[in-house]
Amino acid sequence: MLTCFFFFALFLLPVNALFYRRFQDLPVKDFDFIVVGGGTAGNVVANRLSEDPRIRVLVLEAGGSDKDAFNSHVPLYGRRLQGSQFDWNFTTTPQAALNNRPIAYPRGFIIGGSSSINLMVYTRGPSEDWDRMARVTGDSGWNWDNIQSFIRKNERFVPPADHHNTTGQFTPSVHGFHGVNSVSLSGWRYSSDPRVLEAMKESGGEFRFNEDMNSGFHLGFGWTQTTVGHGTRSSSSTSYLGPQYINRKNLFVLLNTRVLRVKQTHTSSKTLVVRGVEFTQNSGKTTHTLQATKELILSAGSIGTPTILMHSGIGDPNELTPLNIKTLHALPSVGKNLTDHPLLVTNYNANTTDTTDDILRNATFAAPFERTWNETRTGPLSSTQGRILGWFRFNLSESVFEGVDDPAAGPNSAHYEVIIGNGAGNPPPTGHFLALTMAVVSPTSASPSRVNSSNPLAPPLINPNILGTTFDFTAMREAFFATQRFISAPSFNGYITAPAFNVTDATLDDFIRNNTGVIWHPVKTAAMSARGADHGVVDPDLKVKGLEGLRIVDASVLPFIPTAHTQAPTYIIAERAAALIKEEYGLN
Ligand SMILES: Cc1cc2nc3c(=O)[nH]c(=O)nc-3n(C[C@H](O)[C@H](O)[C@H](O)COP(=O)(O)OP(=O)(O)OC[C@H]3O[C@@H](n4cnc5c(N)ncnc54)[C@H](O)[C@@H]3O)c2cc1C
Ligand SMILES: *[C@@H]1O[C@H](CO)[C@@H](O)[C@H](O)[C@H]1NC(C)=O
Ligand SMILES: *[C@@H]1O[C@H](CO)[C@@H](O)[C@H](O)[C@H]1NC(C)=O
Ligand SMILES: *[C@@H]1O[C@H](CO)[C@@H](O)[C@H](O)[C@H]1NC(C)=O
Ligand SMILES: *[C@@H]1O[C@H](CO)[C@@H](O)[C@H](O)[C@H]1NC(C)=O
Ligand SMILES: *[C@@H]1O[C@H](CO)[C@@H](O)[C@H](O)[C@H]1NC(C)=O
Ligand SMILES: *[C@@H]1O[C@H](CO)[C@@H](O)[C@H](O)[C@H]1NC(C)=O
Ligand SMILES: *[C@@H]1O[C@H](CO)[C@@H](O)[C@H](O)[C@H]1NC(C)=O
Ligand SMILES: *[C@@H]1O[C@H](CO)[C@@H](O)[C@H](O)[C@H]1NC(C)=O
Ligand SMILES: *[C@@H]1O[C@H](CO)[C@@H](O)[C@H](O)[C@H]1NC(C)=O
Ligand SMILES: *[C@@H]1O[C@H](CO)[C@@H](O)[C@H](O)[C@H]1NC(C)=O
Repeated sequence: MLTCFFFFALFLLPVNALFYRRFQDLPVKDFDFIVVGGGTAGNVVANRLSEDPRIRVLVLEAGGSDKDAFNSHVPLYGRRLQGSQFDWNFTTTPQAALNNRPIAYPRGFIIGGSSSINLMVYTRGPSEDWDRMARVTGDSGWNWDNIQSFIRKNERFVPPADHHNTTGQFTPSVHGFHGVNSVSLSGWRYSSDPRVLEAMKESGGEFRFNEDMNSGFHLGFGWTQTTVGHGTRSSSSTSYLGPQYINRKNLFVLLNTRVLRVKQTHTSSKTLVVRGVEFTQNSGKTTHTLQATKELILSAGSIGTPTILMHSGIGDPNELTPLNIKTLHALPSVGKNLTDHPLLVTNYNANTTDTTDDILRNATFAAPFERTWNETRTGPLSSTQGRILGWFRFNLSESVFEGVDDPAAGPNSAHYEVIIGNGAGNPPPTGHFLALTMAVVSPTSASPSRVNSSNPLAPPLINPNILGTTFDFTAMREAFFATQRFISAPSFNGYITAPAFNVTDATLDDFIRNNTGVIWHPVKTAAMSARGADHGVVDPDLKVKGLEGLRIVDASVLPFIPTAHTQAPTYIIAERAAALIKEEYGLN
């Protein structure tokens, strides 16, 4: 009687798609699509594919829930996630051009992936970036005009937290207002804003104002757009797995699940079919295997994806064989060409107390602001620090170009970026600052990211080779000079008192080597290339070259580093990938 009741109870239980923590709790085990990595791109794909109730989607994510991750939701506290329980805590190899310093290399270890721990800047890059990608891959679907519909599917532009008048701070006609992921202008103002705007006018055209850097033309300074909605972070988890989606009966997310390998399922004709996935929930003590009936989608990010591929025997045989990993499918580009944006932060002492410094270093001082945020999602905690940022080029006649072709995607694409922060990112115990951060956004150095062991749980070697070319180093030096020109504008008189760093002409290069880091925009490790190309990992439809059943959808497929922060490009790629998959399988 009891058994019978139990049987029927089970049978009648609706199969409810939700977040699961234990494999054995998953009510079903057969899925049309399995997405590896519930990060920025993975959750987009899972959301879009599960729009069709006829198919079943499973997401496997190594990290846990973001529900109680307070620092993930508070925009100003974003930096506190680095080195936290929500970070994979990778470190690069010693960087030769940085006086052999290793650099911390955070990646999101949490549902939402790096979109749950990043600094929320929303930039699509110049149209030339996308047009180059289309040209090089031979797929016009990637050009600027053709990605517009995917930008609109992703973006939901919303008013800033303080509801200030945003006329002239962005161009409404280039934005989407009905997408899934919230984007807004900063919801808090600081005393430095008018001086920064005035300094642009005083620069004689060098640092001009651009109303909207996301219009396709990105050169100049403009107001930073961020993935923040109603004063709180909008990640791929809070948006694409929001309450209206996660309750779909055909969408399943298994947390705390580390994928070890993808597996060959069967051989159809001459092509290997890879739709199997092996994973563990207890650091490898026991493993499970599942097979997708339609496709396996790797969305583990620019570090995770090549790591999984290599441990599966998909990579360069010359690297795999010495590690005793049997080559399943030779694809020498896997994990190669890792590229990132070098970053240098310089703080200037500011004659004000109206910065974020006290909030970030003094909990007592922060408490009333935190209460305001807790109650109304407004106030200084509702905004990120870099409220104004800009994109600039070097003059082609400058010595920075000696011996190299212009690495930018075109004449309207930047070589360097400047971000202006009202307060230091990691403030020292005393002082108030204006932070000028510069990044080389058209870097020419690239390097492999490699597995270093046959154990898939071991961290990979990450070597972005920061400032590894003469161009990159010279570009950083020139970017530093440019920020010094900007900060010497008359409008900063009486406001900027002195640099908070010590550098002379003689020590500048060493200063750069000691202080440069990265902005954590790794790409290219599973790069897209034209069909039939002798390099690359995926075709323009993101299917792994020479295999059946396996697609890659994340930042690793970008064949060039965008002249942009990389989350918006990642969202755009994921939206188009989902559309390509739906088209191929005739899904709604
Ligand atoms: C600290 C930081 C700050 C940044 N700031 C910005 C910014 O301000 N603006 C911007 O545009 N970009 C920023 N970026 C970059 C941007 O966030 C990333 O480019 C983008 O989120 C990458 O998306 P993805 O889908 O490729 O990877 P991710 O979002 O990292 O997703 C990969 C997912 O796969 C999971 N995973 C990995 N390996 C496995 C495995 N073996 N098994 C199971 N799951 C696995 C991970 O846990 C993660 O959830 C920042 C990045 C970082 C780290
Ligand atoms: C990263 O380091 C933090 C602090 O030591 C730790 O709490 C966290 O568990 C680490 N992350 C992972 C994925 O191990
Ligand atoms: C916003 O500012 C613009 C110009 O600065 C002005 O024309 C417009 O009326 C303002 N809108 C509101 C709602 O105040
Ligand atoms: C690295 O990228 C360049 C193009 O940027 C390409 O020519 C080269 O073949 C790539 N290398 C590998 C190993 O894929
Ligand atoms: C922290 O802020 C509180 C409240 O403003 C102030 O009383 C205290 O002196 C500050 N502490 C330090 C170390 O500055
Ligand atoms: C704000 O809310 C968080 C999370 O609930 C809590 O930890 C924190 O103490 C609150 N801050 C204040 C000042 O009440
Ligand atoms: C570029 O440099 C040349 C030579 O110094 C100068 O004549 C020219 O005006 C500069 N152009 C710009 C756009 O700055
Ligand atoms: C790479 O692996 C070797 C052998 O296990 C180990 O000694 C070395 O520390 C590893 N390197 C890094 C950077 O982890
Ligand atoms: C700081 O600003 C005040 C006015 O706000 C001004 O009187 C003072 O001279 C400034 N100090 C410096 C060192 O510029
Ligand atoms: C700069 O260096 C000089 C001499 O070494 C030292 O006196 C001064 O305090 C330093 N300033 C800063 C801001 O570190
Ligand atoms: C760079 O770092 C080294 C080692 O810490 C130090 O000796 C040197 O003075 C630093 N150089 C500059 C310019 O800060």
